[in-house]
Amino acid sequence: MAYQLPDLPYAHDALEPSIDKKTMEIHHGKHHQGYTNKVNSALEGHDFADLPIEEVLTRIKEVPENIRQAVINNGGGFANHKLFWQVLSPKGGGEPKGEVADAIKKTFGSFDKFKEKFSSTAAGQFGSGWGWLCVDDSGNLKVISTANQDSPYMHGLTPILGVDVWEHAYYLKYQNRRPDYLAAFWDIVNWDQVEKNYQDAK
Ligand SMILES: [Fe+2]
Repeated sequence: MAYQLPDLPYAHDALEPSIDKKTMEIHHGKHHQGYTNKVNSALEGHDFADLPIEEVLTRIKEVPENIRQAVINNGGGFANHKLFWQVLSPKGGGEPKGEVADAIKKTFGSFDKFKEKFSSTAAGQFGSGWGWLCVDDSGNLKVISTANQDSPYMHGLTPILGVDVWEHAYYLKYQNRRPDYLAAFWDIVNWDQVEKNYQDAK
C-alpha cells in the first residue's frame, strides 16, 4: 500500500512566529508531498512497499541496490518530516516532561546542556540535513546529525526529536541565519510527544 502524506496536526500559521505560514505550506504541501510520491514510485511492485517506512529504513541494506538510494532520499524524507510535524506544537516549548526529562538530565547533565549540544550539532551539520535526539538499542539517548535525508533508523537509532536544517525549512523567514531558526525551534517543541516517542522507543 502506498504511503500517504500525513495531515499537519495544526494550521499552517499555528507555529508562528517560530515558523511562518508560507514556509509551512511549501514545506508540507510541496516538499513532503514530493518525498511521499517519490518513495511510493521507487517501491512500487516491491514487497518493502507493504512495510512501515521505519522498518524499510532499518533494513535499508536489504533494499535492492537499484532503488536503494531513491529509498534513502525519499523514504528518509517521508519519515523524517512525518516525525518533524509531530514533535512541533503551537502549545509547545518549555521544558521536557516525564521520564525523558530525567533521561536528558542524566545523559547530558542538564536540560540547558542538552539544548546546547543539540543546537550546536544541528547548526554544525554542513549543508542540508537534520539534528536528532535518538534512542539507541540499549535505551540510551544520543544527539546526532544526519546529512541530506538520511534517517537515524538506517544507523539502528530511533529518533524521538528532530529538527530539519535544510534551507527549505527556514530560508524564507531567517535567510542564512540557521542559529536564529534553531533558537526559535525550542518555543514549539512538543515535549508530550517526545516523551511518548521515548516510551515507544526504549
Ligand atoms: Fe524539510
